Amino acid sequence: MTVDIKNKALDLTDIGVRFGGISALDGVSLQLYEGEICGLIGANGAGKTTLFDVISGVRLADRGKVQLNGQDATAWSSHRRARSGLRRTFQRVQLFGWLSVEENLLVATEWRGGNGGVLADLVAPIARRRLENERRQRAGEVLERCGLSSIRNERAAGLPIGTARLVELARALVDQPSVLLLDEPASGLDHGEADRFGDIVRSLRDDEGTSVLLVEHDVGFVMDNVDRIVVLHLGRVLATGTPEEIRNNPAVAEAYLGVSA
Ligand SMILES: Nc1ncnc2c1ncn2[C@@H]1O[C@H](COP(=O)(O)OP(=O)(O)O)[C@@H](O)[C@H]1O
Ligand SMILES: [Mg+2]
Repeated sequence: MTVDIKNKALDLTDIGVRFGGISALDGVSLQLYEGEICGLIGANGAGKTTLFDVISGVRLADRGKVQLNGQDATAWSSHRRARSGLRRTFQRVQLFGWLSVEENLLVATEWRGGNGGVLADLVAPIARRRLENERRQRAGEVLERCGLSSIRNERAAGLPIGTARLVELARALVDQPSVLLLDEPASGLDHGEADRFGDIVRSLRDDEGTSVLLVEHDVGFVMDNVDRIVVLHLGRVLATGTPEEIRNNPAVAEAYLGVSA
């Protein structure tokens, strides 16, 4: 028997968040291993979005520890976490409506120049142009991968939800994230669109080794696309296992699927 020691892309320990009298997260520990897709499921109000906020750094937990790619990121800003390879998409799609699909990908660029003295300032325009070209090329590749090349010049505002979700995914991919958080990516998609979305996410795992944590209500989508599932219930981890194990777990059936075992 071989022992598979996997690195953790994300390691959450004993995360707690309170909103007034409500305990939204109460001692959540969760690992996302490198190169896996993990589904996070649970009824409305279970704490899924709050946990995403804590991971991405838009909300600091009241207690607990967040490790990202082996580093203690608990006190890091969301910017710092993004620079360390973390990207997310939102439950409600957040695109720049007045920009084109391609421009939505390009604005994600962060100019890393400056602070390099006079010489750096002199060569900055050249370096910047080269970076911009690289970025445009990378955006083109991502648009292709997500099947969006033909609508690259369309305004984001008028897009149907299925396409808008793909654009948001594409934007998250331009910087080749090591860890990707997807908040209800299949919401509003028809079966065909959800299948295509799932195909792209699995290809990211397989081709680029991206680690993906996804929150999703559509249990079928989760079962089809993830390696492992964590079930949240009232701010706590109720169960962790393979899709098969979760499907056959009576406590999950009762608490989440609303079925009495
Ligand atoms: N900004 C907030 N202020 C007060 N309570 C909140 C806030 N955000 C979430 N909650 C509460 O925290 C709990 C978890 O919410 P949430 O993380 O949105 O759950 P989920 O995404 O699983 O539906 C719920 O009881 C919710 O009402
Ligand atoms: Mg939510």
